[in-house]
Amino acid sequence: MKSVPDKNRKTDLILQKNRELTAILEVSKVLTTSFALEKNLSSVMSTIGSLLEMQRGCVFLLDKISGELRIVAAHGLTKDNIEKGKYRIGEGIVGRVLEKKIPMVIPNIGKEPLFLNKTGARPEKDGISFLCIPIKLKNEVLGVLSVDRIYSEKKGNVDDDLRVLEIVASLIAQFIKLWESYERIEKEKEHLKRELKGKYSIDNIIGDSDRMQEVFKAVHRVSPSKATVLLRGESGTGKELIAKAIHYMSQRNKGPFIKFNCASIPEGLLESELFGHEKGAFTGAVSSRSGKFELANKGTIFLDEIGDLPTALQPKILRVLQEREFERIGSEKTLKVDVRIITATSRNLENLVSQGKFREDLYFRLNVIPLFLPPLREREEDIPILIEHFLHKFNEENVRFVVMDKSALQVFIHYHWPGNVRELENTIERLVVMSGSDIITATDLPVSMNICRLKNSDKLSSLTANIEELEKANILNALGKSGWIHAKAARLLGITPRQIGYKMKKYGIEEKEN
Ligand SMILES: Nc1ncnc2c1ncn2[C@@H]1O[C@H](COP(=O)(O)OP(=O)(O)OP(=O)(O)O)[C@@H](O)[C@H]1O
Ligand SMILES: [Mg+2]
Repeated sequence: MKSVPDKNRKTDLILQKNRELTAILEVSKVLTTSFALEKNLSSVMSTIGSLLEMQRGCVFLLDKISGELRIVAAHGLTKDNIEKGKYRIGEGIVGRVLEKKIPMVIPNIGKEPLFLNKTGARPEKDGISFLCIPIKLKNEVLGVLSVDRIYSEKKGNVDDDLRVLEIVASLIAQFIKLWESYERIEKEKEHLKRELKGKYSIDNIIGDSDRMQEVFKAVHRVSPSKATVLLRGESGTGKELIAKAIHYMSQRNKGPFIKFNCASIPEGLLESELFGHEKGAFTGAVSSRSGKFELANKGTIFLDEIGDLPTALQPKILRVLQEREFERIGSEKTLKVDVRIITATSRNLENLVSQGKFREDLYFRLNVIPLFLPPLREREEDIPILIEHFLHKFNEENVRFVVMDKSALQVFIHYHWPGNVRELENTIERLVVMSGSDIITATDLPVSMNICRLKNSDKLSSLTANIEELEKANILNALGKSGWIHAKAARLLGITPRQIGYKMKKYGIEEKEN
């Protein structure tokens, strides 16, 4: 017959083994519920913490870039303890376990000089044992699992604990490997999605909107050909940028890109500028000179503001378009050029044709491939990426780190941008250069932007609506300047604090969130 203490010990042992099995089962359950790394590892730590009576526990993972071990999940540690728990390879017990790839047990951390207690989680170190197990798969160490345990003569067995913790560590290792490949696949998926969406991209030209994607698609198609392109769109929509892109994406990109603005010089000088002249062709022609078409030979000529071309010159341009030939002023000799012609206008060419100011045959010749650049207010979704693009550009140029908050972004999105991308670009440059702080808020923006939230500029609003918008913008400005202190803002505006309170209510201006 067995003695009573013997029987008790056996029962304890069975209970202990039972707890260990339950802990392993729970851990494997937790790790297969989802791919939430930190959440799952935290659940693992609290499971083994409570089932195996361990005081503290941490999962350290190796950051492959910094070479540092960082706590990703912990049981029994404060946030502050976690922040402090960083080790380099070979540093302290944790760092050594990672380096040597074998478990280590410190029977009493109070007597171990190698024990660094970096987290500061144990004010009283005496009597605590520290178990540290590498988290590894095959021969690759991914991190370290550490546990604090208080053993007594009757309670606990280091070998048993080590065995259980090694199983847990290997389950964690498998989970981390799975998580890593899951993350990689997710990233790849995201990347492919983006690539598919932004399938048509042109260096330094921003546009994710469907309208711009259509333009990019057409630019890709048209560039390799010699076809004449007519770019239409309001001022600042990027006509010149697209003209250059077409040139640089064509086989003529080694040849010149010659830009000429038909509205920039007096009518009398236009012909000579475009076609050149011989010496003595007219008063002042002291030497012969080649015109833009000759200069553009083997390349591209970009005729901007083509709608402003005087009627007298239109037949000459038509001839170049049809025959690719012309004569310099004062010369009989016909010159042949190999040139691609791209034109642009922000004017309504059809109206000019019907008014007899623009030749219909020339219009048809130019209009072979028309490309419409949409105004910015019709492609709001491009505004945030344009902001990002220009903030990056001007921050780099000015060695600044300016960002924009949500309130400013809202104003940018709702503003009607009469000057289109050029205006947006200039606004951001001014903000980056002039801003005293690194965060731009709505109140830093010009009053004109705050009041012009009317999306459709064609719609005329009533005078009172305009005045109210202006008043609201002024109040916002004053509040911004006075740090949202009503009395100060009221003083700036020359009204009483009561009045400003009333007006804020009227215009739905809410107190600024901090
Ligand atoms: N989609 C875009 N992405 C990045 N920058 C752009 C874009 N569109 C325009 N810009 C920038 O805006 C400014 C104006 O563009 P651009 O000169 O090409 O316009 P435009 O249509 O020719 O204007 P205008 O009719 O007034 O001559 C340029 O600095 C250009 O770099
Ligand atoms: Mg232009």
